[in-house]
Amino acid sequence: MAVAEEGSDGTFQRARSGRFVTGDVELVVLQDANEVAAAVAERQGQAAREGGHIALTGGTTPELAYAEAAEREPDWSKTEIWWSDERCVPPDDDLSNYALAKRTLLDRLEHGPRAVHRIKGELGREQAAADYERELGDTVFDFELLGLGKDGHVASLFPNAPTLRERRRVLPAEAGLEPFVDRVTLSIPALNSARAIVFAVTGADKAEASLRAFGARPGPETPASLVRSRDGTTTAILDRAAAAKLHA
Ligand code: 6PG
Repeated sequence: MAVAEEGSDGTFQRARSGRFVTGDVELVVLQDANEVAAAVAERQGQAAREGGHIALTGGTTPELAYAEAAEREPDWSKTEIWWSDERCVPPDDDLSNYALAKRTLLDRLEHGPRAVHRIKGELGREQAAADYERELGDTVFDFELLGLGKDGHVASLFPNAPTLRERRRVLPAEAGLEPFVDRVTLSIPALNSARAIVFAVTGADKAEASLRAFGARPGPETPASLVRSRDGTTTAILDRAAAAKLHA
């Protein structure tokens, strides 16, 4: 793997903080989860000011970033909000990705988005996927935040799942990891149509997956390795623990 450091003499220390570029992903390595949250929040705030279509993610990693993004930029009135995946639970369930974003971000804004396009997981995966696909149409996200599972999954696209070969934009899916509830997910082509993709990844338990996703040959055993913006930028913001195996 060729990892080149931007603007330096080219030497590279394992998991040092800084900015690096692999072939197709910019890696931003920061000290810890708080710094990652701040960097993500800054980008989200900027995206909100510019306006457009913003895709949110679920999982636990974005929680800090969402809260900070609401503080940094309380006016999201120029945005429309979407999700890259959802669990098939009611919108007020603790497992709901919508509930997480509502609690940590949307409810804290002074001026909310002009539209919130939630995936209606409570309808069941087939119906919810069909509804969301209709609503999404050919919308292109200006900013798409994603997490990374410790098995290499992204959104609800799990290792070696048949969904990885689908061309439709929205898919019903099964969970490959906890929580084991049905899912609705964007497909690889839909994820890759975003203009700016940002992965937020923290913690030592993500180090192996980060290596496979951002520093190795792409393949279906690591769905996140297949996610790269077709026409825009792909950035992974990691803390040192998650970046520990990414080295020259
Ligand atoms: C979901 C997600 C999923 C998540 C990763 C990382 O609905 O579960 O969108 O892809 O981003 O599992 O989750 P953590 O941030 O909790 O590690």
